[in-house]
Amino acid sequence: MENNQAIGIFDSGIGGTSIWSAIHELLPNEKTIYLADSKNAPYGQKSKDEIIALSMKNTEYLINLKCKLIVVACNTATTNAIRELRSKYEIPFIGIEPAIKPAVTHSKTQIIGILATQGTLNSELFNKTAEKYQDTKIIEQVGTGLVQLIEEGNINSPEMTRLLQSYLKPMIDANIDYLVLGCSHYPYLIPQIKNILPDHIQIIDSGQAVAKQTQKVLLEKIGLSSSQTSEPIFYTNTNSDVLTEILNHKYVIEEIEF
Ligand code: SIN
Repeated sequence: MENNQAIGIFDSGIGGTSIWSAIHELLPNEKTIYLADSKNAPYGQKSKDEIIALSMKNTEYLINLKCKLIVVACNTATTNAIRELRSKYEIPFIGIEPAIKPAVTHSKTQIIGILATQGTLNSELFNKTAEKYQDTKIIEQVGTGLVQLIEEGNINSPEMTRLLQSYLKPMIDANIDYLVLGCSHYPYLIPQIKNILPDHIQIIDSGQAVAKQTQKVLLEKIGLSSSQTSEPIFYTNTNSDVLTEILNHKYVIEEIEF
C-alpha cells in the first residue's frame, strides 16, 4: 500500500516542531506540512471549547491541503480535543499525550514529575491516565509562562531560567527520578532543564513515541510514501522569525493569513 499525500501536523505554535523533527527523522520520505497557529498561542490557558474550535480550524486547513493523516503535535489540543476531532472528521489523527506510562514503569522512587500546561493537567484524558497509576506519586506542575517565552524566542533568557528553577525545585525536593515533559514546546528547554536537575533524574518527552505511532498507522492503514521528495512545508500565521530560528534557518517558512 502506498500513499504520497502529506502528513499534516499542527500545534499552537512552534513547539510541535519537536514532534515534526522526530517524524521527519523516522520517515524521511514522507511529505510533511506543519501548521503553527502561533497567533493563538498559548492554548494552555484557553477553555476546552476554545481549544476544540481552534483544533477544528487547524484540522480543516490541513484537510483542504489533502493531507492523509493529522498529527496533533500539541498536548493541550490532544488532551482537550482529540475525541471531538475523531468524531467529526474521517481523517485519522495521532495525538500526543504526556508519557506517564514509561516514567511510571521505570521509576525506582515511585515518584515522578510532570511539567505541562494548565489545560493538559486539567483535562479528563490526562486525569484518567494518571488515575491508572495509584501506586506512583505524580507531582504536577503548570509551566506558566514557558510557552510564551519560547514563542517570543526567549528560550535562553534569565526569566526562563528563573521560572524553570522555581518549577523544578519542588520536584527535586520530592525525590522524583523521572520528569515527563507534557508539552511539545518543552523539549526545546532540555539543555536548561538538564543544568538544573541532578544527573540521576531522567527526562522523558513524547516525540519518538508519536513518530513510531505515525509510522505504524501509515503502514497498517494508510500507506507510506513511495516518493523521494520530502522537502517539508511550514506555515505560520505570525511573523516567521522565531520558527525560522528554531529550525536552524534550514527551511522556507510561509506566513499565511489564518
Ligand atoms: C500551549 O499552547 O499552551 C502549549 C502546547 C502544548 O500543550 O503542547
